[in-house]
Amino acid sequence: MATHISELDTPALIVDIDKLKFNIKDMADFAAANNIRLRPHAKTHKTPQIGKLQLEAGAAGLTVAKLSEAEVFIDAGCDEILVAYPLVGKAKHRRLIELCQRAHITTVVDHLDIASALSRTMNAQGLELPVMVEVDTGLNRCGVRPLEPARKLAQNIARLPGLHFAGLLTHEGHAQLAGAPDEVRSSGLSAGQMMAETAELIRKSGLEVPIISVGLTATAKITATVDGVTETRPGIYAFYDRSEVLHQVVTPDRCAARVLATVATRPTADRIILDSGTKALTSDRAGVAPPVTGHGYVIDHPDWEITSLSEEHGATTIADDDPVQIGEQVQIIPNHICPVINLFDSMAITQGERVIDEWVVAARGKSQ
Ligand SMILES: Cc1ncc(COP(=O)(O)O)c(C=O)c1O
Repeated sequence: MATHISELDTPALIVDIDKLKFNIKDMADFAAANNIRLRPHAKTHKTPQIGKLQLEAGAAGLTVAKLSEAEVFIDAGCDEILVAYPLVGKAKHRRLIELCQRAHITTVVDHLDIASALSRTMNAQGLELPVMVEVDTGLNRCGVRPLEPARKLAQNIARLPGLHFAGLLTHEGHAQLAGAPDEVRSSGLSAGQMMAETAELIRKSGLEVPIISVGLTATAKITATVDGVTETRPGIYAFYDRSEVLHQVVTPDRCAARVLATVATRPTADRIILDSGTKALTSDRAGVAPPVTGHGYVIDHPDWEITSLSEEHGATTIADDDPVQIGEQVQIIPNHICPVINLFDSMAITQGERVIDEWVVAARGKSQ
């Protein structure tokens, strides 16, 4: 194993242990101070060691999108998992039953057909599955509309055998693209308020709403302070990324995960090729709204712009008189860290310039 960053072959995923632990503790402290549960989304790191750090710091459980991700974290000892994705089809139901026997699983629904099918499966097994209603607070992805549609679905779920209505969930991802930092914050705030109002309406109709769960790193410290919100599920916060820097959530020094790249060539004075293309950085620009351009932030080179990517090439514009040499290593903070992690078998754990460990990204590629 390499003992110094300069000995690593590139492209490589490197994670600074001190920054990682700081980020994890910071969010756990925030949740504790605000008396809310933290159930981090583990799809960001996909790594059991990081899940364990989050749980040790006080997280009440982990969130995943896929049952195959849930299996990895249950194998690693996590017994409280929220699967925040609609579970549809016999294959998934079979897998879900197995997981329910090994851990406390909660899931979400936004359609009565999905709830009814889950109810039949769970009831036949003599199991009771906690189910949250997913509410669309503006992302236009999954979720029923707030207020009456959410109330109606909650009441229907409460009547179904084998299911237990556990509360409301939203992913306020639209807030990320709302514009300037102020607009991002107010969009997050209004998502939290919509959730609280919806819960109030449901309570008036006689149903308990134990959990009101929100989840987005960019607004984690805003949305989760809304009166009534009981749980937050940020994922990116473990590492942060360029998107969070642009939203002024953190400064680049808080970004724990970087892609280590090498200057592969300099075909013209004003263009270098980094050995990191879409196979290392992905082309995902989530959270980086125009007019921002570029495929990442190159540390120590704020004037460089990674202008285009192909699979193995990161074409980067530099000044004609830039002294950079072929073979030099640089560190890139990706635009969106989650899909980047999914591309690497392992991450080199670093402390300063030293490489102190290697952690397998055990839940990478777990797409079912
Ligand atoms: C359902 C759900 N909850 C929480 C999150 C976490 O948001 P972030 O990635 O901004 O931390 C995500 C991210 O995609 C998500 O899909």
